[in-house]
Amino acid sequence: MTNIESAIAPHLRTERVVPGNTPENFKPPFEIYASRFPPSMKELVFAIIGAQYPSKESNDGAAMEKIASFTSSTTVPLELRPTFEEVAAMTDNRGYYNIATLIYWPDRATWDQWSELTGFKEWWSTLDPTTERNGWFLEVFFPTMDRFETILTTTAMREGASYMRTGASGPVLEHGYWGSMRDRLPVSQVDELVGEKAFLQAGGPKRPATLKSRVRVPGKRNLAIIRSGQDWKETLPRERELYLNMMRPALQNGMDFLHDHGDEIGCYSNRFMDMVGFKGEGGRDRSFGLGYFDDLASLEAWSKSHPTHVNIFAVFMKYAKEMGDNMTLRLYHEVSVLEAEQQFFEYISCHSSTGMLSSVCGDH
Ligand code: HEM
Repeated sequence: MTNIESAIAPHLRTERVVPGNTPENFKPPFEIYASRFPPSMKELVFAIIGAQYPSKESNDGAAMEKIASFTSSTTVPLELRPTFEEVAAMTDNRGYYNIATLIYWPDRATWDQWSELTGFKEWWSTLDPTTERNGWFLEVFFPTMDRFETILTTTAMREGASYMRTGASGPVLEHGYWGSMRDRLPVSQVDELVGEKAFLQAGGPKRPATLKSRVRVPGKRNLAIIRSGQDWKETLPRERELYLNMMRPALQNGMDFLHDHGDEIGCYSNRFMDMVGFKGEGGRDRSFGLGYFDDLASLEAWSKSHPTHVNIFAVFMKYAKEMGDNMTLRLYHEVSVLEAEQQFFEYISCHSSTGMLSSVCGDH
């Protein structure tokens, strides 16, 4: 393996005051890459704008059509329009169908102007939870680039924020050992990234009503979010069968654990979502887990030690061995660790375990 470099972009490197975890003389077992963003890019915006229906059958497409009227609006200048947008859906453990668009912008000012000029902000603020036919959720993250990292299994692929990149790194040093995700986050050079252990205890504050209500949830110090994605659309029949019969069930099991029992390990919310068309139609052979954790250490502990991710890892090793150089499964993840003011959560008539509502309702 040649040209190994740090996953941290040169302009974000600084003297480490918090020791890293890379073992001495470490050589990564295989290659993965980081996206490189322009040094002038100081932050990015990742927004999830979604609708919640009581069941999949009750999705009439109207909510996403409304959202698309803003996100696809051509009335705003090109530079304010979303850099990248795609739609994903999942049915949660209460049987509710959640469909959302996931969108990226290169900075907060662009998001603010887009929200104003398309009329999105005005529409959102005047939605009346007592009369809406479906629930709505808005989750927006504003990580500065030192609080964001993304890795991909090939340099050719692009996902999410990587549509804003200028290039890709060489093979990165910081992967293939536990603690490498933390080492890839530039801010980890100078900050322990301790979060708030803020799960509700029995007898805690009164839970707000959520259905027929609008609830804003405050951000939390060093909330860790991960979007970890899979793309098996290029797989040929043999690999497809392996993916669907071996890899996906292991992944589903891990995602179900986080979704149903995440509170046991510091995960507020986890959605295992499939990419779909704008109205929820079809599957796209691409999926991702989107998890919100109280602390980066909780996410690390789950991935390193919990039987569900240990099993994902073990199944993947078998899978990779079996496919060898013919593997076409593509994987990526994006991780942010956010200051409280880099998060916005608002829920309109959603059930009480939707997203970060679990942090004020205590439900999963
Ligand atoms: C790390 C496999 C899904 C969370 C890893 C690693 C592998 C792996 C091989 C080590 C990577 C390296 O450093 O080189 C997989 C596969 C998945 C999957 C095959 C799906 C098919 C997920 C999901 C999540 C997740 C959905 C979270 C929602 C993590 C985390 C690490 C990790 C946080 C980094 C741990 C650290 O560096 O300390 N995974 N994973 N994984 N995985 Fe997964």
